[in-house]
Amino acid sequence: MRIELIDEVMTRKLGKALAKSCPQSPFLVTLTGNLGAGKSHLARAFLKKLGVTDPIPSPTYTLCETYPINQKLTVSHLDLYRLEDPEELELMGFRDMLDGQGLLIEWPERAGPLMPTPDLDVHLIWHDQGRMCVVSAKSKKGERWLSALKVPQPE
Ligand SMILES: Nc1ncnc2c1ncn2[C@@H]1O[C@H](COP(=O)(O)OP(=O)(O)OP(=O)(O)O)[C@@H](O)[C@H]1O
Ligand SMILES: [Mg+2]
Repeated sequence: MRIELIDEVMTRKLGKALAKSCPQSPFLVTLTGNLGAGKSHLARAFLKKLGVTDPIPSPTYTLCETYPINQKLTVSHLDLYRLEDPEELELMGFRDMLDGQGLLIEWPERAGPLMPTPDLDVHLIWHDQGRMCVVSAKSKKGERWLSALKVPQPE
């Protein structure tokens, strides 16, 4: 699914729309695309829509920020750009996180073979006129999520 993101508002709308149809069980979303493409911006809107009221710092240096959402769901936002060794992920308890949490992961490629296939990949791209996003379902859960997604429209 391809969506034009003419401005930041649209990026936020997409983050919110993804949160609205988000599963109440562990999920994995990879946020891919170049530096500055809007991955953190989208993640922040997603987390806010899920009810996070605390500030949502970028996990650029901490690598991982965790947010309890409700009794069933905890969501972590990871940015692996500065991951030096995939081993570090093991030390962070990555395997348990995969089983028990919703995960939004920027720069998943840095994890190498430790990164499993996600439910959704949200790929943000710059092009001549601005930015766009390609959302792809990679699992059954991802397919259900995407089919329930109400695609945001520009104002
Ligand atoms: N659709 C859009 N149009 C214009 N600006 C946008 C859009 N989406 C996000 N931005 C802006 O782009 C800038 C970079 O966004 P952001 O930090 O989310 O990028 P990122 O993909 O997370 O980068 P990094 O790889 O460095 O973590 C922010 O200032 C954000 O407000
Ligand atoms: Mg970022």
